[in-house]
Amino acid sequence: MTRHLLSAADLTAEQATEIFDRAAAYAAGTGPDQPLRGRTVMNLFYEDSTRTRFSFDAAARKVGAGVVNFSAKGTSVSKGESLKDTAWTLRAMGIDGVVIRHHCSGAPHQLTRYVDVPVINAGDGTHEHPTQALLDAYTMRQRLGRVAGLNVVIVGDVAHSRVARSNALLLTTLGAKVTLVGPPTLVPRDGSVLAPAVETSYDLDTAIQGADVVMMLRVQHERMNQAFFPSIREYSRRYGLDTRRAARLGATTIVMHPGPMNRGVEIAGEVADSDRSTIVEQVANGVFVRMAVLSLLLEGKN
Ligand code: NCD
Repeated sequence: MTRHLLSAADLTAEQATEIFDRAAAYAAGTGPDQPLRGRTVMNLFYEDSTRTRFSFDAAARKVGAGVVNFSAKGTSVSKGESLKDTAWTLRAMGIDGVVIRHHCSGAPHQLTRYVDVPVINAGDGTHEHPTQALLDAYTMRQRLGRVAGLNVVIVGDVAHSRVARSNALLLTTLGAKVTLVGPPTLVPRDGSVLAPAVETSYDLDTAIQGADVVMMLRVQHERMNQAFFPSIREYSRRYGLDTRRAARLGATTIVMHPGPMNRGVEIAGEVADSDRSTIVEQVANGVFVRMAVLSLLLEGKN
């Protein structure tokens, strides 16, 4: 296994599969019993989070680790300095692993220079969110039986989405075909800037034909410092997964969303709550996948 998990690109297909198999064992109640007993994991959250933070917290406890939660929302200390100070504190406290979410892309990478324990990226700016990609791929594997060969369409605010980048990297490593769809202001012209062989489209109706997976992204207003589309209404009409579009999906096509959702903007409430939707499963699977990641990265290390 890798030492740190900073990017979905850190993982080979074999390593990702090892994580999925361990997660499946935990889901079945047959995973290694409390492999991190006596260890301490620090959750370092510099940015808002509901799902990811509680998920890492629950996962760490379920594999036997103690958890220290550090929330630094609103800090005005400059990034480098505060991270360095925090890292010194971690070293002094004898922490065995760090889970970090930060509004600055690259902060987890920077942290690896200050601590000598595994660092797991729980979302850094607009850059990456590798455990989200892992839980998404795990959910596809669970629902559809495989990831290789799937036609995955990722829709919406790609430009600001660490979820899209990590998914593009992991899914292509696992042999899926990935197409990014959204308005030209929010989707790169060339998908290979995210990951090799990734395609792009500005036409949702065409792109979802033949899709096995339609992954909707949240419109990230908090990361937008200008208008990227004329109005919410127009965005929703062109790029929202409404009931009319959902009705044209294949019989087994699944609909995903990392949460939090803007119901009625990128996804209709009826679609989010339909049988195709894996949104609740994604949250449940997130705990098993993070149990697997934490245990595989930290077990056997002192
Ligand atoms: C995502 C995130 O924070 O990157 N949410 C999550 O982790 N479940 C996506 C988002 O905020 O839209």
